[in-house]
Amino acid sequence: MIDSVAQITDLPLDEALALVRKAFDAAEITRRGIDSAGVVEYYRQSERAYRMFHSGEGALHIGMSTGKGDDDDVGHRRHVELFAELLESIDAQQAIEFGSGMGYNVRTLAREMPARQFVGVDLSPHHTKAARKDAAGLKNIEFIEGNYQQLDLPDEAFDAVLAIETLCQTEDQHLAIAEAYRILKPGGRMMVIDCYRNQPLDAVDEQLREAALLVEKTAAVDKFAELEPWQQMVREVGFEVIECTDRSTETARDLRRLYRLSRRFFKMSLAVKLIRRAMPALAMENAVCGLLMPYTVGHSVHGYYTITLAKPV
Ligand SMILES: C[S@@+](CC[C@H](N)C(=O)[O-])C[C@H]1O[C@@H](n2cnc3c(N)ncnc32)[C@H](O)[C@@H]1O
Repeated sequence: MIDSVAQITDLPLDEALALVRKAFDAAEITRRGIDSAGVVEYYRQSERAYRMFHSGEGALHIGMSTGKGDDDDVGHRRHVELFAELLESIDAQQAIEFGSGMGYNVRTLAREMPARQFVGVDLSPHHTKAARKDAAGLKNIEFIEGNYQQLDLPDEAFDAVLAIETLCQTEDQHLAIAEAYRILKPGGRMMVIDCYRNQPLDAVDEQLREAALLVEKTAAVDKFAELEPWQQMVREVGFEVIECTDRSTETARDLRRLYRLSRRFFKMSLAVKLIRRAMPALAMENAVCGLLMPYTVGHSVHGYYTITLAKPV
């Protein structure tokens, strides 16, 4: 049990699941398959809600915070700082972000590291357009619309690859990791920050399994990878895993914020139906993820990790 996350909730899990089932077709959500087109559609419907409720600056990831400092700072910047440290440690000049979303991470890096070159690649035309607009005026950044499973970029062109909460959404993680390996120079690094299953879901009890599937599907993820087999897969591609840190406790502040927002949504029983008519369906489902994630992370079914991979020299 991860106390700092488990203590966020004020309802037993069965009651939280009952709230979800009352407002949504939970069985349909858990059975749903999610492919690239589904991911693009999810973000098309959710873009405005993310800007309103998640980050006005366009960060699309869960914050990481040590709990110190301003209560309102949920730690969206922390990911950028960790990657900046990595870039400095290997004196990287060319870096690419896989799944750059609305460009928050690479835009911040490009502004703060003007001598280095950055590229962002994303499937979503809406995100790519927003990222280009927000980075207007920065000379050391470029955004490409495309799928990082197959890039039109030369071999060994980059010193570093960043992938924040995106590999979980791609259809074939093996292809994505092999592509990162191909475009990295020998000695290059890949930093992955993502959610994983800590164990197979058939090893956890029924309620937690349902909660885990609902969290994954409503975050536009077909399924989170299991951590151990995933690490085995990246080693088979040729990478060395040089760091793997469980950051789940650091997500507590942002998960608490999202849980409280979701609780407010589920309390508005009559209003729920009215709002649902006005808001896109997939945007509304973010409330399910916000409500249930503290349970799945709190019980270590899901974990939030930073993982650094090295391409051998
Ligand atoms: C949760 S968002 C994270 C965005 C960004 N990394 C951030 O931290 O703000 C995931 C992004 O990955 C993109 N994505 C998912 N699979 C992709 C793929 N195969 N190729 C390119 N982009 C992808 C989605 O369109 C989405 O913008």
